[in-house]
Amino acid sequence: MDTFANPNQVSDVYGRPMRDLRISVTDRCNFRCPYCMPAEVFGARYAFLPKPEILTFEEIVRLTRLFVDLGVRKVRLTGGEPLLRADLPTLAAQLAAIESVQDIALTTNGYLLPRHAAALRNAGLNRVTISLDSLDDAVFRRMNGREVGVAPVLEGIRAAEAAGFRQIKINCVVQRGVNDQSIAALARHFKGTGHIVRFIEYMDVGNLNQWVLSEVVPATEIVARVHEVSPLQAAAPNYRGEVANRYRYLDGEGEIGVIASVSQPFCGDCSRARLSTDGHVLTCLFADGGADLKTPLRAGASDDDLRNLIASVWSARTDRYSEERAGRIDAQGHARSGHKVEMFQIGG
Ligand code: GTP
Ligand code: 5AD
Ligand code: SF4
Ligand code: SF4
Repeated sequence: MDTFANPNQVSDVYGRPMRDLRISVTDRCNFRCPYCMPAEVFGARYAFLPKPEILTFEEIVRLTRLFVDLGVRKVRLTGGEPLLRADLPTLAAQLAAIESVQDIALTTNGYLLPRHAAALRNAGLNRVTISLDSLDDAVFRRMNGREVGVAPVLEGIRAAEAAGFRQIKINCVVQRGVNDQSIAALARHFKGTGHIVRFIEYMDVGNLNQWVLSEVVPATEIVARVHEVSPLQAAAPNYRGEVANRYRYLDGEGEIGVIASVSQPFCGDCSRARLSTDGHVLTCLFADGGADLKTPLRAGASDDDLRNLIASVWSARTDRYSEERAGRIDAQGHARSGHKVEMFQIGG
Protein backbone atom coordinates (compact mmCIF):
# COMPACT_ATOMS: atom_id res chain seq x y z
CA MET A 1 0.00 0.00 0.00
CA ASP A 2 2.35 2.71 -1.02
CA THR A 3 1.72 6.17 -2.27
CA PHE A 4 3.21 5.43 -5.68
CA ALA A 5 0.72 2.66 -6.39
CA ASN A 6 -1.97 5.27 -7.07
CA PRO A 7 -1.15 7.80 -9.79
CA ASN A 8 -4.06 9.96 -8.57
CA GLN A 9 -2.73 10.21 -5.03
CA VAL A 10 -3.07 13.82 -3.97
CA SER A 11 -0.54 15.47 -1.64
CA ASP A 12 -0.52 18.84 0.09
CA VAL A 13 1.94 21.75 0.03
CA TYR A 14 4.26 19.92 2.46
CA GLY A 15 4.06 16.63 0.57
CA ARG A 16 1.62 15.00 2.97
CA PRO A 17 -0.59 12.50 1.13
CA MET A 18 -4.33 12.29 1.82
CA ARG A 19 -4.82 8.78 3.23
CA ASP A 20 -7.58 8.90 5.85
CA LEU A 21 -11.11 10.19 5.80
CA ARG A 22 -13.04 10.90 9.00
CA ILE A 23 -16.75 11.16 8.24
CA SER A 24 -19.07 12.85 10.71
CA VAL A 25 -22.54 11.35 10.29
CA THR A 26 -24.40 13.51 12.83
CA ASP A 27 -23.74 16.62 14.90
CA ARG A 28 -25.95 15.35 17.72
CA CYS A 29 -24.80 13.55 20.83
CA ASN A 30 -26.46 11.90 23.80
CA PHE A 31 -23.61 13.09 26.07
CA ARG A 32 -22.57 16.63 26.97
CA CYS A 33 -18.86 16.32 27.76
CA PRO A 34 -17.88 19.80 28.98
CA TYR A 35 -14.68 19.72 26.88
CA CYS A 36 -16.70 19.20 23.70
CA MET A 37 -20.41 20.14 24.02
CA PRO A 38 -20.89 22.01 27.29
CA ALA A 39 -24.50 21.49 28.50
CA GLU A 40 -24.98 25.19 29.16
CA VAL A 41 -24.37 25.90 25.46
CA PHE A 42 -26.02 22.82 23.97
CA GLY A 43 -29.29 22.86 25.92
CA ALA A 44 -32.75 21.80 24.82
CA ARG A 45 -33.08 24.82 22.54
CA TYR A 46 -29.82 24.45 20.64
CA ALA A 47 -30.46 24.14 16.91
CA PHE A 48 -28.62 21.16 15.51
CA LEU A 49 -28.52 20.71 11.77
CA PRO A 50 -31.91 20.25 10.14
CA LYS A 51 -32.22 17.03 8.17
CA PRO A 52 -32.00 18.61 4.70
CA GLU A 53 -28.55 19.98 5.57
CA ILE A 54 -27.19 16.54 6.47
CA LEU A 55 -25.57 14.43 3.78
CA THR A 56 -27.57 11.36 2.82
CA PHE A 57 -25.88 7.96 2.75
CA GLU A 58 -25.90 8.12 -1.02
CA GLU A 59 -24.07 11.45 -0.94
CA ILE A 60 -21.56 10.23 1.66
CA VAL A 61 -20.79 7.13 -0.37
CA ARG A 62 -20.40 9.08 -3.60
CA LEU A 63 -18.01 11.54 -1.98
CA THR A 64 -16.09 8.76 -0.24
CA ARG A 65 -15.48 7.07 -3.59
CA LEU A 66 -13.95 10.31 -4.86
CA PHE A 67 -11.75 10.63 -1.77
CA VAL A 68 -10.68 7.03 -2.35
CA ASP A 69 -9.81 7.82 -5.97
CA LEU A 70 -7.49 10.51 -4.60
CA GLY A 71 -5.71 8.21 -2.16
CA VAL A 72 -7.86 7.60 0.92
CA ARG A 73 -7.58 4.04 2.23
CA LYS A 74 -8.87 4.31 5.81
CA VAL A 75 -12.31 5.56 6.76
CA ARG A 76 -13.58 6.40 10.24
CA LEU A 77 -17.18 7.15 11.15
CA THR A 78 -17.60 9.80 13.82
CA GLY A 79 -20.16 12.31 15.07
CA GLY A 80 -21.27 13.84 17.43
CA GLU A 81 -22.29 10.36 18.41
CA PRO A 82 -22.44 8.31 15.21
CA LEU A 83 -24.77 5.67 16.64
CA LEU A 84 -27.53 8.30 16.80
CA ARG A 85 -27.67 8.22 12.99
CA ALA A 86 -30.41 5.83 11.91
CA ASP A 87 -29.32 2.74 9.95
CA LEU A 88 -25.60 3.28 10.42
CA PRO A 89 -24.85 -0.39 9.58
CA THR A 90 -26.30 0.24 6.12
CA LEU A 91 -23.78 3.01 5.56
CA ALA A 92 -20.96 0.84 6.93
CA ALA A 93 -21.87 -1.88 4.45
CA GLN A 94 -21.94 0.56 1.54
CA LEU A 95 -18.53 1.95 2.51
CA ALA A 96 -17.11 -1.54 3.01
CA ALA A 97 -18.14 -2.34 -0.54
CA ILE A 98 -15.92 0.39 -1.98
CA GLU A 99 -12.89 -1.21 -3.55
CA SER A 100 -9.61 0.05 -2.06
CA VAL A 101 -11.11 0.93 1.32
CA GLN A 102 -8.85 -1.13 3.55
CA ASP A 103 -10.16 -0.23 6.97
CA ILE A 104 -13.42 1.10 8.36
CA ALA A 105 -13.54 2.16 11.99
CA LEU A 106 -16.00 3.88 14.31
CA THR A 107 -15.43 6.28 17.21
CA THR A 108 -18.34 6.15 19.69
CA ASN A 109 -19.12 6.90 23.32
CA GLY A 110 -20.31 3.29 23.56
CA TYR A 111 -23.70 3.95 25.14
CA LEU A 112 -25.71 2.59 22.21
CA LEU A 113 -23.33 -0.22 21.26
CA PRO A 114 -25.33 -3.00 22.89
CA ARG A 115 -28.06 -2.24 20.33
CA HIS A 116 -25.85 -1.90 17.27
CA ALA A 117 -22.53 -3.74 17.67
CA ALA A 118 -23.54 -7.00 16.01
CA ALA A 119 -25.17 -5.32 13.01
CA LEU A 120 -22.12 -3.11 12.51
CA ARG A 121 -19.80 -6.10 12.63
CA ASN A 122 -21.97 -7.98 10.13
CA ALA A 123 -21.97 -4.92 7.88
CA GLY A 124 -18.17 -5.09 7.62
CA LEU A 125 -17.01 -2.53 10.17
CA ASN A 126 -13.44 -3.53 11.06
CA ARG A 127 -12.71 -1.67 14.30
CA VAL A 128 -14.30 0.34 17.10
CA THR A 129 -12.87 2.99 19.39
CA ILE A 130 -14.86 3.71 22.54
CA SER A 131 -14.45 6.83 24.67
CA LEU A 132 -14.27 6.35 28.43
CA ASP A 133 -12.69 9.07 30.54
CA SER A 134 -12.78 7.40 33.94
CA LEU A 135 -13.86 4.24 35.77
CA ASP A 136 -14.90 6.34 38.72
CA ASP A 137 -18.66 6.86 38.47
CA ALA A 138 -18.66 10.33 40.02
CA VAL A 139 -15.86 11.57 37.77
CA PHE A 140 -17.37 10.00 34.67
CA ARG A 141 -20.83 11.43 35.36
CA ARG A 142 -19.29 14.85 35.51
CA MET A 143 -17.28 14.30 32.33
CA ASN A 144 -20.20 13.17 30.19
CA GLY A 145 -22.50 15.92 31.45
CA ARG A 146 -25.50 13.61 31.39
CA GLU A 147 -25.09 11.75 34.68
CA VAL A 148 -24.38 8.51 32.82
CA GLY A 149 -22.51 6.01 34.96
CA VAL A 150 -19.61 3.83 33.84
CA ALA A 151 -21.70 0.62 33.63
CA PRO A 152 -23.48 1.32 30.32
CA VAL A 153 -20.17 2.07 28.60
CA LEU A 154 -18.61 -1.12 29.97
CA GLU A 155 -21.65 -2.94 28.62
CA GLY A 156 -21.04 -1.31 25.26
CA ILE A 157 -17.46 -2.59 25.33
CA ARG A 158 -18.69 -6.09 26.19
CA ALA A 159 -21.21 -5.93 23.35
CA ALA A 160 -18.44 -4.99 20.93
CA GLU A 161 -16.34 -7.92 22.16
CA ALA A 162 -19.29 -10.28 21.82
CA ALA A 163 -19.84 -9.05 18.27
CA GLY A 164 -16.27 -10.05 17.43
CA PHE A 165 -14.37 -6.74 17.61
CA ARG A 166 -10.83 -7.21 18.90
CA GLN A 167 -8.13 -4.83 20.15
CA ILE A 168 -10.78 -2.25 20.96
CA LYS A 169 -9.30 1.18 21.58
CA ILE A 170 -10.50 2.99 24.68
CA ASN A 171 -10.04 6.77 24.37
CA CYS A 172 -9.56 8.78 27.54
CA VAL A 173 -9.20 12.57 27.38
CA VAL A 174 -7.07 13.59 30.37
CA GLN A 175 -7.86 16.89 32.08
CA ARG A 176 -5.81 17.96 35.08
CA GLY A 177 -7.87 18.35 38.22
CA VAL A 178 -10.78 16.51 36.61
CA ASN A 179 -9.77 12.91 35.83
CA ASP A 180 -5.99 12.72 36.08
CA GLN A 181 -6.35 10.64 39.24
CA SER A 182 -8.12 8.01 37.13
CA ILE A 183 -5.24 7.26 34.75
CA ALA A 184 -3.63 4.32 36.55
CA ALA A 185 -6.94 2.61 37.37
CA LEU A 186 -8.15 2.85 33.77
CA ALA A 187 -4.90 1.38 32.47
CA ARG A 188 -5.03 -1.41 35.06
CA HIS A 189 -8.63 -2.31 34.21
CA PHE A 190 -7.86 -2.98 30.55
CA LYS A 191 -4.40 -4.49 31.03
CA GLY A 192 -4.40 -8.07 29.80
CA THR A 193 -7.74 -7.77 27.96
CA GLY A 194 -6.29 -7.26 24.50
CA HIS A 195 -7.82 -3.77 24.36
CA ILE A 196 -5.72 -0.61 24.15
CA VAL A 197 -6.32 2.39 26.35
CA ARG A 198 -5.23 5.63 24.68
CA PHE A 199 -4.80 8.70 26.80
CA ILE A 200 -5.40 11.94 24.88
CA GLU A 201 -3.93 15.27 25.92
CA TYR A 202 -6.77 17.72 26.41
CA MET A 203 -6.90 19.97 23.32
CA ASP A 204 -8.21 23.44 22.48
CA VAL A 205 -10.64 22.14 19.89
CA GLY A 206 -13.59 24.35 19.06
CA ASN A 207 -14.37 27.66 20.71
CA LEU A 208 -16.37 26.61 23.74
CA ASN A 209 -14.34 24.58 26.19
CA GLN A 210 -12.28 27.40 27.73
CA TRP A 211 -9.11 25.41 27.27
CA VAL A 212 -6.13 26.41 29.33
CA LEU A 213 -2.65 24.90 29.16
CA SER A 214 -2.50 24.21 32.89
CA GLU A 215 -5.26 21.60 32.45
CA VAL A 216 -3.18 19.57 30.00
CA VAL A 217 -1.36 16.61 31.51
CA PRO A 218 1.65 16.06 29.25
CA ALA A 219 2.14 12.61 27.76
CA THR A 220 5.38 12.06 29.69
CA GLU A 221 3.50 12.51 32.95
CA ILE A 222 0.68 10.20 31.83
CA VAL A 223 3.17 7.49 30.89
CA ALA A 224 5.04 7.94 34.19
CA ARG A 225 1.83 7.45 36.17
CA VAL A 226 1.12 4.12 34.48
CA HIS A 227 4.78 3.07 34.51
CA GLU A 228 4.92 3.54 38.29
CA VAL A 229 2.42 0.74 38.79
CA SER A 230 2.97 -1.34 35.63
CA PRO A 231 6.37 -0.86 33.97
CA LEU A 232 6.27 0.11 30.30
CA GLN A 233 8.63 0.41 27.38
CA ALA A 234 8.19 2.48 24.23
CA ALA A 235 7.15 0.54 21.11
CA ALA A 236 7.57 1.43 17.43
CA PRO A 237 4.59 2.89 15.53
CA ASN A 238 2.39 0.42 13.65
CA TYR A 239 2.40 2.70 10.61
CA ARG A 240 3.77 6.04 9.52
CA GLY A 241 1.76 8.93 10.91
CA GLU A 242 0.14 6.90 13.70
CA VAL A 243 -1.48 9.39 16.05
CA ALA A 244 -0.78 7.56 19.30
CA ASN A 245 2.67 6.84 20.72
CA ARG A 246 2.70 3.20 21.86
CA TYR A 247 4.00 1.78 25.14
CA ARG A 248 4.11 -1.95 25.88
CA TYR A 249 3.81 -3.49 29.33
CA LEU A 250 7.08 -5.21 30.20
CA ASP A 251 5.17 -8.24 31.49
CA GLY A 252 3.67 -8.82 28.04
CA GLU A 253 0.13 -7.92 29.07
CA GLY A 254 -0.57 -5.54 26.19
CA GLU A 255 -0.02 -1.87 25.51
CA ILE A 256 -1.31 1.65 26.02
CA GLY A 257 -1.18 4.64 23.68
CA VAL A 258 -0.67 8.31 24.36
CA ILE A 259 -1.90 11.01 21.98
CA ALA A 260 0.43 13.92 22.65
CA SER A 261 -1.17 16.43 20.35
CA VAL A 262 -0.22 19.36 22.58
CA SER A 263 3.22 18.42 23.95
CA GLN A 264 4.49 16.54 20.86
CA PRO A 265 2.40 17.57 17.84
CA PHE A 266 2.30 15.22 14.88
CA CYS A 267 1.26 17.51 12.03
CA GLY A 268 4.32 16.52 10.00
CA ASP A 269 2.72 13.19 9.05
CA CYS A 270 -0.93 14.22 9.18
CA SER A 271 -2.82 12.58 6.34
CA ARG A 272 -6.38 13.04 7.63
CA ALA A 273 -9.20 14.72 5.75
CA ARG A 274 -12.50 15.33 7.52
CA LEU A 275 -16.00 15.41 6.06
CA SER A 276 -18.48 17.30 8.22
CA THR A 277 -22.11 16.29 8.71
CA ASP A 278 -23.22 19.03 6.31
CA GLY A 279 -20.76 18.13 3.59
CA HIS A 280 -17.76 20.39 4.06
CA VAL A 281 -14.25 19.04 3.69
CA LEU A 282 -11.82 20.19 6.36
CA THR A 283 -8.07 19.79 6.20
CA CYS A 284 -7.44 20.16 9.94
CA LEU A 285 -9.16 19.46 13.25
CA PHE A 286 -8.65 23.14 14.03
CA ALA A 287 -9.83 24.54 10.72
CA ASP A 288 -12.74 26.89 10.31
CA GLY A 289 -15.63 25.93 8.07
CA GLY A 290 -13.87 24.10 5.27
CA ALA A 291 -14.85 23.86 1.62
CA ASP A 292 -18.46 23.18 0.76
CA LEU A 293 -18.92 20.00 -1.29
CA LYS A 294 -22.65 19.62 -0.71
CA THR A 295 -23.76 22.68 -2.68
CA PRO A 296 -21.99 21.72 -5.91
CA LEU A 297 -22.94 18.08 -5.38
CA ARG A 298 -26.63 18.97 -5.12
CA ALA A 299 -26.36 21.42 -8.01
CA GLY A 300 -25.41 18.53 -10.28
CA ALA A 301 -21.60 18.65 -10.33
CA SER A 302 -19.98 15.69 -12.06
CA ASP A 303 -17.61 13.27 -10.31
CA ASP A 304 -14.73 14.95 -12.14
CA ASP A 305 -15.78 18.39 -10.88
CA LEU A 306 -16.07 17.18 -7.31
CA ARG A 307 -12.82 15.21 -7.47
CA ASN A 308 -11.03 18.26 -8.80
CA LEU A 309 -12.49 20.38 -6.03
CA ILE A 310 -11.35 17.96 -3.31
CA ALA A 311 -7.92 17.64 -4.94
CA SER A 312 -7.51 21.41 -5.14
CA VAL A 313 -8.42 21.84 -1.47
CA TRP A 314 -5.95 19.16 -0.38
CA SER A 315 -3.20 20.37 -2.74
CA ALA A 316 -3.38 23.85 -1.19
CA ARG A 317 -3.29 22.53 2.39
CA THR A 318 -0.77 24.12 4.74
CA ASP A 319 -2.41 23.27 8.11
CA ARG A 320 -0.15 22.53 11.07
CA TYR A 321 -2.15 24.04 13.89
CA SER A 322 -0.83 21.87 16.71
CA GLU A 323 2.75 22.70 15.77
CA GLU A 324 1.90 26.39 15.73
CA ARG A 325 -0.05 26.31 18.99
CA ALA A 326 2.96 26.80 21.25
CA GLY A 327 3.57 30.22 19.67
CA ARG A 328 -0.03 31.26 20.28
CA ILE A 329 -0.32 30.61 24.00
CA ASP A 330 -0.58 33.77 26.08
CA ALA A 331 0.61 34.43 29.62
CA GLN A 332 -2.62 33.01 31.06
CA GLY A 333 -2.19 29.76 29.15
CA HIS A 334 -4.96 30.41 26.61
CA ALA A 335 -4.35 29.67 22.94
CA ARG A 336 -5.07 32.67 20.73
CA SER A 337 -6.72 31.52 17.54
CA GLY A 338 -9.38 32.40 15.03
CA HIS A 339 -12.76 30.72 14.86
CA LYS A 340 -12.52 26.92 14.70
CA VAL A 341 -14.93 24.17 13.80
CA GLU A 342 -16.44 22.40 16.83
CA MET A 343 -15.27 18.87 17.69
CA PHE A 344 -18.83 17.47 17.49
CA GLN A 345 -19.13 18.73 13.91
CA ILE A 346 -16.18 16.66 12.75
CA GLY A 347 -15.77 14.01 15.46
CA GLY A 348 -12.15 14.58 16.47
P1 GTP B 1 -6.24 4.54 14.49
O1 GTP B 1 -4.79 4.72 14.73
O2 GTP B 1 -6.59 4.24 13.08
O3 GTP B 1 -6.88 3.56 15.42
O4 GTP B 1 -7.04 5.87 14.72
P2 GTP B 1 -6.81 7.23 15.42
O5 GTP B 1 -5.89 7.09 16.56
O6 GTP B 1 -6.53 8.26 14.40
O7 GTP B 1 -8.29 7.46 15.87
P3 GTP B 1 -9.06 8.19 16.94
O8 GTP B 1 -10.26 8.74 16.33
O9 GTP B 1 -9.33 7.27 18.06
O10 GTP B 1 -8.09 9.36 17.38
C1 GTP B 1 -7.91 9.58 18.70
C2 GTP B 1 -8.00 11.02 19.04
O11 GTP B 1 -6.78 11.65 18.68
C3 GTP B 1 -9.05 11.81 18.31
O12 GTP B 1 -10.29 11.64 18.84
C4 GTP B 1 -8.53 13.20 18.51
O13 GTP B 1 -8.83 13.61 19.82
C5 GTP B 1 -7.05 12.96 18.33
N1 GTP B 1 -6.68 13.15 16.94
C6 GTP B 1 -6.97 12.32 15.91
N2 GTP B 1 -6.52 12.81 14.77
C7 GTP B 1 -5.96 13.98 15.08
C8 GTP B 1 -5.33 14.98 14.32
O14 GTP B 1 -5.22 14.90 13.10
N3 GTP B 1 -4.87 16.06 14.98
C9 GTP B 1 -4.98 16.20 16.30
N4 GTP B 1 -4.46 17.28 16.85
N5 GTP B 1 -5.58 15.28 17.07
C10 GTP B 1 -6.06 14.20 16.46
N1 5AD C 1 -9.39 17.27 23.61
C1 5AD C 1 -9.01 15.99 23.36
N2 5AD C 1 -9.83 15.03 22.94
C2 5AD C 1 -11.11 15.36 22.79
N3 5AD C 1 -12.16 14.61 22.42
C3 5AD C 1 -13.25 15.41 22.39
N4 5AD C 1 -12.93 16.66 22.75
C4 5AD C 1 -11.59 16.65 23.02
C5 5AD C 1 -10.67 17.63 23.46
N5 5AD C 1 -11.04 18.88 23.71
C6 5AD C 1 -12.10 13.18 22.15
C7 5AD C 1 -13.30 12.42 22.63
C8 5AD C 1 -13.28 11.19 21.80
C9 5AD C 1 -12.64 11.65 20.52
C10 5AD C 1 -13.60 11.70 19.40
O1 5AD C 1 -12.11 12.94 20.77
O2 5AD C 1 -13.28 12.08 23.96
O3 5AD C 1 -12.54 10.14 22.36
FE1 SF4 D 1 -20.41 13.52 22.56
FE2 SF4 D 1 -17.97 12.61 22.06
FE3 SF4 D 1 -18.40 15.24 22.25
FE4 SF4 D 1 -18.57 13.72 24.44
S1 SF4 D 1 -16.71 14.07 23.19
S2 SF4 D 1 -20.02 15.32 23.82
S3 SF4 D 1 -19.40 11.82 23.63
S4 SF4 D 1 -19.22 13.90 20.68
FE1 SF4 E 1 -3.37 17.35 11.36
FE2 SF4 E 1 -4.30 19.75 12.04
FE3 SF4 E 1 -4.05 17.79 13.86
FE4 SF4 E 1 -1.88 18.99 12.85
S1 SF4 E 1 -3.44 19.93 14.11
S2 SF4 E 1 -2.18 16.79 13.17
S3 SF4 E 1 -2.54 19.34 10.72
S4 SF4 E 1 -5.42 17.80 12.09
